[in-house]
Amino acid sequence: MGSTGTGAKLEDNMLDLTPDRASLDPIETASRDEIAALQLERMQWSLAHAYENVPHYKAAFDAKGVHPSDLKSLPDLSKFPFTTKLDLRDNYPFGLFATPREKVVRVHASSGTTGKPTVVGYTARDIEIWSDLVARSIRASGGRPGDIVHISYGYGLFTGGLGAHYGAERLGCTVVPVSGGMTERQVSLITDFKPRVIMVTPSYMLSILDEFRRQGLDPRESSLAVGIFGAEPWTNAMRGEIEQAFDMHAVDIYGLSEVMGPGVANECVETKDGLHIWEDHFYPEIIDPVTEEVLPDGEIGELVFTTLSKEALPMVRYRTRDLTRLLPGTARSMRRMEKITGRSDDMMILRGVNVFPTQIEEQILKCEGLAPHFQIELSTRGRMDEMTVHVESTARAATEEARAVSARDLAHHIKSVVGVTARIDVQEPGNVVRSEGKAKRVVDNRKKG
Ligand code: DLL
Repeated sequence: MGSTGTGAKLEDNMLDLTPDRASLDPIETASRDEIAALQLERMQWSLAHAYENVPHYKAAFDAKGVHPSDLKSLPDLSKFPFTTKLDLRDNYPFGLFATPREKVVRVHASSGTTGKPTVVGYTARDIEIWSDLVARSIRASGGRPGDIVHISYGYGLFTGGLGAHYGAERLGCTVVPVSGGMTERQVSLITDFKPRVIMVTPSYMLSILDEFRRQGLDPRESSLAVGIFGAEPWTNAMRGEIEQAFDMHAVDIYGLSEVMGPGVANECVETKDGLHIWEDHFYPEIIDPVTEEVLPDGEIGELVFTTLSKEALPMVRYRTRDLTRLLPGTARSMRRMEKITGRSDDMMILRGVNVFPTQIEEQILKCEGLAPHFQIELSTRGRMDEMTVHVESTARAATEEARAVSARDLAHHIKSVVGVTARIDVQEPGNVVRSEGKAKRVVDNRKKG
C-alpha cells in the first residue's frame, strides 16, 4: 500500500476500507454465543484471581457476601462490588497488584491533579495482550503492516505514547515515537517521513493543523490518510472538521489506564459508527450512576468495566465516570459503545441544565467564522453561576462587527440547542490556550461555599 498520500485520500478507496476477514482475529467475527462463553470462563478466572491475591477485593467481596464461585452466568456480575478511583488511591501505590511486584514489568500513573496519582501495573503477558489489542485497534482504524505511524501521544507515565507504540510495532509498522509538544517539529517530521497514520489527541491535532497553515503548507497534501484520535471527548462535528482539513479518515480510540490504556475500544474505519469494545478482554456494563442499577443495552449511563485477562491489576466493575450507551456489533461481532458524551466529572449544571463541553463544541463547529479552539470558564455573578465560552475567530483582525455576529450566532445556538445562556468571548486566532495532549476544556472560577 502506497503512502505518498496525494489526491483525494478520503474519497478514493486506496485504504481498502473493509479489511480482509481472514486478517482479523477469529474472535472479532465470532458469534455472540462464542463471545459470551469465552467471557464467562475468563470472568470466573479474573474474579477468583482478584479475590485470592488482592486483600482489597477479598474484603470487598466478603463485605457484600459474594464469592467468585457465585458467578454462574454473566449477569451474576451485578452482585459483585464496584471498584472506584478512590480504591486505587487508598491502596497507593502497589496495593491492588495481584501478582508479586517482581512480576510487574511496567507501571504507568495518572497525572494526579488532585491528590496522589493512581498507579497501574502490567506483567509481561499483560503488555503482550495490550500490544495485540492496540494492533487490532490500528488495523480497525485502517492501518496496515508496513505503514509509518507517527505517535504524538505523550510518552512517559501516561499510557498513550507507549501503549500506541507497542501496538504499532506489533502490527508491523514503522513507528515514529515523537511524543507531544514541539509542534513545529511535528510538522517537519510529518512532511519529511510521510507517515500514513497519526495517533494523537484530537485537540492536539488541531494545533498541528494550525502549524501546517502557519508554515504555508496545505494539510490536504500531507501523507496522512488515517488519524486515530482519543484520550479525550470529541464530537462527530470535530471528526468532519479534521477529515476535511487533512483529507484523511478520523477514527476514535478509547481507553483508560485503570483498565489498560488506549485500545479498550476502537472504531472501525469502514463504518465509523461508534467504538467496538474488545469484549474478549473487557466486559462492559452500563449503570445508572445514582441507583447503581445495571441498565439494558441502548440506555445511556456510566460505563463500568471488568477486566477478563489482566494479571497484575485485575479490575472488577471499575466505574469509569464516562457516559455512553452500548449498541450491538456492526463491522465486528463485539458490541459498540457510542462516542462518549463526557465524563460525569466534566458535567456542568447551569440553572438546572446539565451541560457537557462536547455540546458546546458541536455548536461552535456550526458557526461560520469560528475556529474549533475553545475553553469554557465558569464564574459566579451574584448568586448565579455563569458560563463564558472563549473561542477564536478564523480570520485574523476580524472586525468588531464580524466578531459580534459570530458571538451572537454561537450564543443563539447554545441557547436554542443546549438550553443555557452563555457569554461568548471571540478572540483573535491563537489567543485561546492550545493543547499538547488532553485539552483542558473547563476552567472553574466559581466562588466556593
Ligand atoms: O487517556 C488512555 C488513552 C490514551 C486513550 C490514548 C486513548 C488514546 P487516562 O489518562 O487514564 O487514559 O484517561 C482515561 O480519558 O476515562 C475518558 O474520560 C477519557 N477518554 C479516553 N479516550 C477517550 C475517547 C487514556 N476516545 C479517560 N473519547 C477516560 C472520550 C476518552 N473520552
